[in-house]
Amino acid sequence: MEEEKKLKEEGVQEEMNVMPRIGDKAPDFEAITTKGKIKMSEFAQDKWTVMFSHPADFTPVCTTEMSGFAKRKSEFEALNTELLGLSIDSIHAHLGWVQNVRKNTGVYFDFPIIADLDMNVSKKYGMLQPNESETSAVRAVFFIDPEKTIRLIMYYPLNVGRNMDEILRSLEALQTSDEHGVAMPLDWKRGDKVIVTPPKTLDELNDRLADDSCEKVDWYLAKKEL
Ligand code: BEZ
Repeated sequence: MEEEKKLKEEGVQEEMNVMPRIGDKAPDFEAITTKGKIKMSEFAQDKWTVMFSHPADFTPVCTTEMSGFAKRKSEFEALNTELLGLSIDSIHAHLGWVQNVRKNTGVYFDFPIIADLDMNVSKKYGMLQPNESETSAVRAVFFIDPEKTIRLIMYYPLNVGRNMDEILRSLEALQTSDEHGVAMPLDWKRGDKVIVTPPKTLDELNDRLADDSCEKVDWYLAKKEL
């Protein structure tokens, strides 16, 4: 009996510890949201998705974060990106909170927020981190490209809010890297020089040494304007 209980507990733990990784396909799911039912594989066709969890409705840090997403929604739209929120709260709690924040501050959470009461989505995306909280999702952000591949993941604890500038910067860096086949240096932001992919063969290395079109620190570290 004890053994059976232990195995069951380990199974639950394992299920909660599924952590999607960068490069994985975004796990599919169906969910109820403040904008109706969605299916991940059909959501935001031909667009990027930024999916983020918050620990709980009607809590202070979460209210500042969700307001941040709402206020800067047009900047995500300009980057061809749909927002998708989530917490382990009921749809009624979500609706009440959205209305409450709108009444108090005029900020409207005009994007779908998943009501993940059965924790189906949170478990699939590793948002349940039991040593941080057994009942709430941590503050996760998943950057998912139009092919539904996970491209970047952020996890924050319950007591620290995220940085909206960094979320937007990371999204733009990913898209710029894809578009131009370059890499982005420390603190890169739009307008900064980008890193030219390092040579992989001796011929490429010699070409790079002879190439005056980019700013070279050495053959393996070269930057250029876009
Ligand atoms: C908050 O958003 O303020 C919060 C939520 C859950 C735990 C701690 C803080």
